[in-house]
Amino acid sequence: MIKLKTVKETIHQLEEVRKKGKSVGFVPTMGALHEGHLSLIREAKNENDFVVSSIFINPIQFNNKNDLVNYPKDLNKDIDLLLSADTDLLFLPTEEEMYPEPVTEVFDFGGLDEVLEGKFRPGHFKGVAIVVKRLFEIIKPDKAYFGLKDYQQLLIIHRITKNYHLPVEIIPCPTIREDDGLAMSSRNQLLSKQERKQAILLYEVLKMVKIQSGFSSINEVKTHVDRLFRKTKDVKLEYFEIVDMYTLEPLKAWAQSKNVIACVAAWVGNVRLIDNIILFS
Ligand code: PAF
Repeated sequence: MIKLKTVKETIHQLEEVRKKGKSVGFVPTMGALHEGHLSLIREAKNENDFVVSSIFINPIQFNNKNDLVNYPKDLNKDIDLLLSADTDLLFLPTEEEMYPEPVTEVFDFGGLDEVLEGKFRPGHFKGVAIVVKRLFEIIKPDKAYFGLKDYQQLLIIHRITKNYHLPVEIIPCPTIREDDGLAMSSRNQLLSKQERKQAILLYEVLKMVKIQSGFSSINEVKTHVDRLFRKTKDVKLEYFEIVDMYTLEPLKAWAQSKNVIACVAAWVGNVRLIDNIILFS
């Protein structure tokens, strides 16, 4: 695996790869890798000749300073995992390399950033959009892979690639779960043993909602979800919404959309987790 830290070397190396007619798949990450990331890399390996991954903890997408400070980091373990998945190139830029000058970009997300995560993490998606657009401009991948766990992020990245005519195909990949159903996330490492047990509530609730969808009214479902969270000590619901899969508009009645997803965010102790489930499409 080639490891590069500068934009210049990475652009040059990938020009050589493309000159040989090879397709490039890309998996951007912030490190603290787990099976979810590796599944993206495997998918990229299946569909491309050359696979690039990046590790960059993007400071401008953290609206909470503590979250940035506490974000798990283990570069040696990440490198071993990337090697085990046969990654061809790791791009490991510094902050100066990614942001040599103050960031001034402005994006229009068409309202996609105003709901769900956007309401609770002001500026988060702007930070994600800036770094992903820059990474795409450096790597110029044919395809880039993102997990469905961060569903809103996926929609927003889709939108910027369309709006900026970035020649990259966005490939959504399934959420990878632990045996008990907890969605894999780098932040799971921060949970205590007790919190880890309680964290499965998010997926348990989503599964219950999927069964109820179409039967009880949306209001009833939301009240039930609220009650379940209030019953569980140490798990605090931040939001639970049933929304249209493409506009993310919260629904009041099932008939309002044919493509419906339920999204949840909750604090388990000091760790904020998100998850979602497609109810029907
Ligand atoms: O999903 C993530 O890990 C990050 O938001 C991403 C896409 C790597 C951008 O920093």
